Amino acid sequence: MKNISFKLNDIFDYIDKQVFDSYLDKIVPVEQKLDPEKNDWTGWYNLPEFYPNSDEFAKILETAKEIRSSGDYLVVIGIGGSYLGARAIIEALTMPFEHSKVIFAGYNLEPEYLDKLLKFLADKDFYINVISKSGTTIEPSVTFRFLKQLLEKKYNVQEVQKRIIATTDKSKGLLRELSNKNGYRTFIIPNNIGGRFSVLTPVGLLPIAVAGFDIRKLLEGAFVVQQESLIKDMDKNFVYQYVAVRDILYNNGKKIEILSSFNSSLRYFSEWWKQLFGESEGKDNKGLFPASTVFTTDLHSLGQWIQDGPRIIFETFLFVNQSNILNFPEDKENIDQLNYLKDFDVNEINKRAYLGTLQAHQDGGVPCLSFEIDKIDEFVLGELIYFFEKTTALNGYLLGVNPFNQPGVEAYKKNMFSY
Ligand code: PA5
Repeated sequence: MKNISFKLNDIFDYIDKQVFDSYLDKIVPVEQKLDPEKNDWTGWYNLPEFYPNSDEFAKILETAKEIRSSGDYLVVIGIGGSYLGARAIIEALTMPFEHSKVIFAGYNLEPEYLDKLLKFLADKDFYINVISKSGTTIEPSVTFRFLKQLLEKKYNVQEVQKRIIATTDKSKGLLRELSNKNGYRTFIIPNNIGGRFSVLTPVGLLPIAVAGFDIRKLLEGAFVVQQESLIKDMDKNFVYQYVAVRDILYNNGKKIEILSSFNSSLRYFSEWWKQLFGESEGKDNKGLFPASTVFTTDLHSLGQWIQDGPRIIFETFLFVNQSNILNFPEDKENIDQLNYLKDFDVNEINKRAYLGTLQAHQDGGVPCLSFEIDKIDEFVLGELIYFFEKTTALNGYLLGVNPFNQPGVEAYKKNMFSY
């Protein structure tokens, strides 16, 4: 991987190296199940290779350019896999105090959120990208009806048609039916790619491009990992290493994996990661529980539990080593007694916190893995996306579950209007 080092740290204190090495023989046959020619759910597997040359990709770039030049905002309506990937990438590349053209909606059923959003948008120019593979999910459907009616109040029929873009299945579902009837522009979610594996399709790519980020670089990063993760060698293939460690630790009684980053801009990346692993692995009474923290903030809350709580966890760190951005200033009076930091840049202080935490958690009996990243950009995020998509699929099959369905998600929906 470029600009990312994956480190096993002290993992061989917890797992036997021979057992780890023997995973090559387990993973390679399982990997064959991911071949899109043989599997109806693995359209994402070779996607980074061909998608940048597709007509759909060119159409995404063109549409994003149009929205960027003529609309104030793009309201992205979707939930789960139909929103988390785009949000993860956009928030990783945008500071909370920076303006974004993309607003997310349809990922909750909160009246206040929707009411305030409608009032906010009343005097703004905006486009809608409503995203739903099934076309029937309640949260985005409810939100879309409100926002569609707002657009219809503001604009004539042609303008409404121009401003509503639906990302959905090629031929199935109510959103497809609605789009065909009303003449909305559409982007297609390939039918062999499930929601949580769809960030590198129009589901994620259109909002990310509208936010001003380079979606070609995202796919280039993913392509590097697509290629590298085919190397049949435990010492060289980091995807295989991560898969093996996760499976062995789970079988040895670890029940929770915590993704701990030292960058709050990765908070939504962790949310995407949790959905990917949680919905893929948690079934048939099996699966690691994916949790996340953002340090150093959460060292002052969940840090205590991680250090001293039940030893059923392991931790995967994401540390971004962004040096030479900001040097720590000297102060003549030094009342805060911080002048000892004057030769540090702020990254170095954050890095000391990372290394100190890594050491402390290892000393506390937590097996720790690390991704050390040189900088957060589209390329690196593409690498991480593909890395985790492939590991999720392999770990699911090793666990003996179907990583591509989510039957449990239906349970709450069935109860909603049954009383
Ligand atoms: O990963 C999944 O398949 C789910 O999280 C879906 O993305 C989520 O439930 C939204 O579904 P839909 O796109 O059909 O509205």
